[in-house]
Amino acid sequence: MKTPTLLSLRALAISLAVTVALTGCDDQVKRVPWFETMFRTQSVRTYEAPHQLPPEGTVYIGAPRHLDLLAADTVAVNPMTATPEILEQGEVLYLQYCVMCHGSEGAGDGPVVGENRLPPLPTLNLLSDRAKNDLSDGYIWGMIANGRGVMPAYRRIPHDSRWQIVEYVRFLQDASSGGAPAGSGEAQAGND
Ligand code: HEC
Repeated sequence: MKTPTLLSLRALAISLAVTVALTGCDDQVKRVPWFETMFRTQSVRTYEAPHQLPPEGTVYIGAPRHLDLLAADTVAVNPMTATPEILEQGEVLYLQYCVMCHGSEGAGDGPVVGENRLPPLPTLNLLSDRAKNDLSDGYIWGMIANGRGVMPAYRRIPHDSRWQIVEYVRFLQDASSGGAPAGSGEAQAGND
């Protein structure tokens, strides 16, 4: 008599725990990789037209593609020219995402750089000869998306906004060399 009661109590406790664990919070369920695949399916929702899959072996050219740094450096072509509007948008984004490390002028002296903080790596300086002359637009654009070391990967910044930031970085570089265009710029983008 005693044993079955204990057993069924334990069974009840376990099933309660499992139910709470699985229904308590959506996020917790999603954290289990096995369940994750059930949440993200290709299923067709109510009133939705069936998905059209691209013909085999093809890639939808409108789809945003992620390029790693090497690919960005090699193939990404800057579609922007530095109009006042684009520079203005680039500045807003730069002040939002880059200034704390790279500094307001791009000299790599943002507020988080210094003793007991981020070490002042030479590559932080976006006004260096290397950054001006050796880095292609595509490289800087790819750097924003991929990050490196303590620099975060800003993949969430849309492609076009990243080009606006690149234009603003070029603008800072030009300004630092007294208005002369930085060595790289549009001419170099995409052809190296
Ligand atoms: C948290 C600090 C931090 C933020 C924010 C940050 N960076 Fe960086 N960035 C770094 C560090 C550190 C390096 C040097 C990394 C290395 O050399 O490995 C770097 C390097 C770079 C380089 C040079 C890479 C090279 O090979 O010389 C570029 C270009 C760059 N960052 C652009 C940006 C832009 C544009 C933004 C804003 C979208 C940004 N970074 C935001 C920390 C940051």
